[in-house]
Amino acid sequence: MKKLFIIANWKSNKLQVDAIDWLEQAEEKKLVFPEHKTVIVCPSFTLLSDVSFFIKGHALPLSVGSQDISPYPMGAYTGAIHGEQIKEFCDYTIIGHSERRRFFQETNEMLSLKVTRALAANLLPIYCVQGKDDPIPTECSLVAYEPVTAIGTGKPDTPENANAIAREIKTAYPHVTYVLYGGSVTPENVAGFCALDALNGVLVGGASLDPDIFLQLAQNA
Ligand code: PGA
Repeated sequence: MKKLFIIANWKSNKLQVDAIDWLEQAEEKKLVFPEHKTVIVCPSFTLLSDVSFFIKGHALPLSVGSQDISPYPMGAYTGAIHGEQIKEFCDYTIIGHSERRRFFQETNEMLSLKVTRALAANLLPIYCVQGKDDPIPTECSLVAYEPVTAIGTGKPDTPENANAIAREIKTAYPHVTYVLYGGSVTPENVAGFCALDALNGVLVGGASLDPDIFLQLAQNA
């Protein structure tokens, strides 16, 4: 079976009580995922510690990632969360989501610094691009293709087009091993994306907020 990553991006949603409630509901389902599926939950920084301790303590079949990382190392950078701080709680970090580029003016140069910091902390970057023209730093092996027109709109790209872009990305950047698709993924359409040869999973926003919907989606993938 090919490798699949199914990633929940909770974005700036959920208080502590909501996150624990999500995890308790997930635990009740007693899910077991097959070896080839890696299911990752990416909460806000304020929830990373609670989410990671719950998952470890209750042996849930989930991994944890952050939604962002500081482009700087440890030191005098007020408000920043650096790679080693993130690594205390998780193994992955989303870098370059279109919302970070758009609302926080993150440039390709800054994203490249973030990738360097992530790798220095032994975190695997989930590097987001909006199309095949966004440059991908040479150290990135896991990339998410997320067209802005599909994010949160209920209008996903077609699996065929996403697969064609994934192929182009892999050809242009031979260091990219896995390309995921993101944008209005649902339990109903996920299998269509995961079945295609150049795609290795999905990055999920809206449909990750409800554990019933997200875990159904992960099972259908
Ligand atoms: P969406 O968001 O699933 O709500 O479209 C995807 C994303 O932004 O990662």
